[in-house]
Formats: sequence, structure tokens, C-alpha cells
Amino acid sequence: MEPFDPTKPNIARVWDYWLGGKDNFAADRAAADEAIKAFPAIPLSARANRAYQARAVRFLAGEAGIRQFLDIGTGIPTANHTHEVAQSVAPESRVVYTDNDPVVLSHARALLASHPAGATEYIDADLRDPGKILNAAAQVLDFGRPIAVMLMAILQHIDGQHDPNAIVATLMDALPPGSYLALSHPASDINSEEMAKMAVVLNKMMAEKVTFREHAEVSRLFTGLELVEPGLVQASKWRPASELEASSPAALWAGVARKG
Ligand SMILES: C[S@@+](CC[C@H](N)C(=O)[O-])C[C@H]1O[C@@H](n2cnc3c(N)ncnc32)[C@H](O)[C@@H]1O
Repeated sequence: MEPFDPTKPNIARVWDYWLGGKDNFAADRAAADEAIKAFPAIPLSARANRAYQARAVRFLAGEAGIRQFLDIGTGIPTANHTHEVAQSVAPESRVVYTDNDPVVLSHARALLASHPAGATEYIDADLRDPGKILNAAAQVLDFGRPIAVMLMAILQHIDGQHDPNAIVATLMDALPPGSYLALSHPASDINSEEMAKMAVVLNKMMAEKVTFREHAEVSRLFTGLELVEPGLVQASKWRPASELEASSPAALWAGVARKG
């Protein structure tokens, strides 16, 4: 494992800080605070994304009957992580987590606290190498049965040169019909000015660069899949559980789609 350098801000720890977590250092907090100056609602937006994620997993494990999850770019463990939500609905759920960050790797044990009826595994891998992720996931998941791939607030770290559409297509092509894609993506066309300012700030300070995308670009990631209701919407508007959830600021597009 690479040692991690606490003097350099890191996106997994910056995100943890916005979520109200404690797994971050002074350099992360300084970078996160600079981003807050550019877009004051970013902590609420990050939390709205987590709330959307929990609702999406509840839908997948409940209504959609999914029992296998591949959560890529999972981040530092926090409340309502995928296996907790999925196994609270269906204890036999099997969840594979992936991230490329040594900080997340160091927390992998917490991600592996599975219900005894199900299973959890952690893969240290980069989304830019989807073949490696698929091969390793096949040790735990049955690719003959439906799987939900989750790409929550990660594709902004894949620039155009690395072709996010091709990466998503590679992942989904490996899955049987009845599988799902659940994703969220920071938007360039919600709170546009503030988001643009924040992108500049983050790209100046962070090793992990960001590309925010507009609705039409995020829509294309679902090519060949059927979006479930309500389609690709602001994260807080995806099946909110209350008026309060629905009204939370969220500068992300979010959607869940089925492979037919
Ligand atoms: C903004 S956080 C989102 C965390 C979590 N999915 C959520 O929505 O709360 C992005 C995560 O993606 C991971 N990540 C970024 N680029 C990645 C890549 N190329 N491969 C794998 N993980 C990556 C980061 O380490 C970080 O944990």
C-alpha cells in the first residue's frame, strides 16, 4: 500500500470532511474550505448525494430485487454504506467495493463488516481499468445473475481523454439482462457559476482533477439502458422520502437504469 501524505489534500478525505466525517487532515480541511468559499452549498450537496445513494440502494435491493452490488469509488466508510442499506433489506446481499485511494483501502476492514448471510469484498483498483475490476469482482459476484453497478460521484474524476462512456459500457456489457446502473455526477448546469468556480479551485489544489458535466452528457452514460422513474434528475429529486429531502441543494445529476 502506498503511504498517504497528510500534507496533500485528497478527494476521499475532502469528501469525508464535507459529509461531516473525522477521517481528514488539516490540508484536506483547508482545501475543502476553499471549495466551500466558491460553492457554499457543497457540504449539503455531498450529503444529498449520500441520501440519494441510500434511496437508490433501497430501491435496488427492494423493488428491483437485486442481491449483488459493485460500488466503485466508494469513499471512506460513512453512515448508510451500501452493504448496510442493502443487507438491511436483504441480508444475503453481496457487495464488492472498489476505490483507488490508499486512504479508503486502510478503512477496508470497516467496509467488510458483512451480515453473515451475505458477503462483502474490497478491491483496490482504478476505474480507468474496468477489466481488472470485473475480473476481481467475479471472485465474489455471480455474473450469471443481475448486478447493480454503482458509480456515485466518481465519474467527474475521469476526464474525456479516458472516455467515461466507454468505461461504463465495458462494465455494463459484462452484466446479464436485469442488471442496473446507479450513478450520480456533479453537474456543470446546476448552480453553474459557483460549480465552475469550485472546479477551478479544486483543480488547482487537488491531485485528483474534476470535470463537471451537463445533463445531456450524463444522459449519454446511460446509452442502451432504460432509466427508471423519475429519470435523470437532480439527486435530491430522485424519489425523495420527504419534502425536506427534496428541497436539499444538490448540484448533481442522478439516475438509476436497467439493462434490458
Ligand atoms: C467524491 S468521492 C465519492 C464517494 C462516494 N461514492 C459517495 O458518493 O459518497 C469520489 C471517490 O472516488 C474515488 N476515485 C476517484 N477516482 C477514482 C478512480 N479513477 N478509480 C477508483 N476510484 C476513484 C476517490 O478515491 C473517492 O473515494
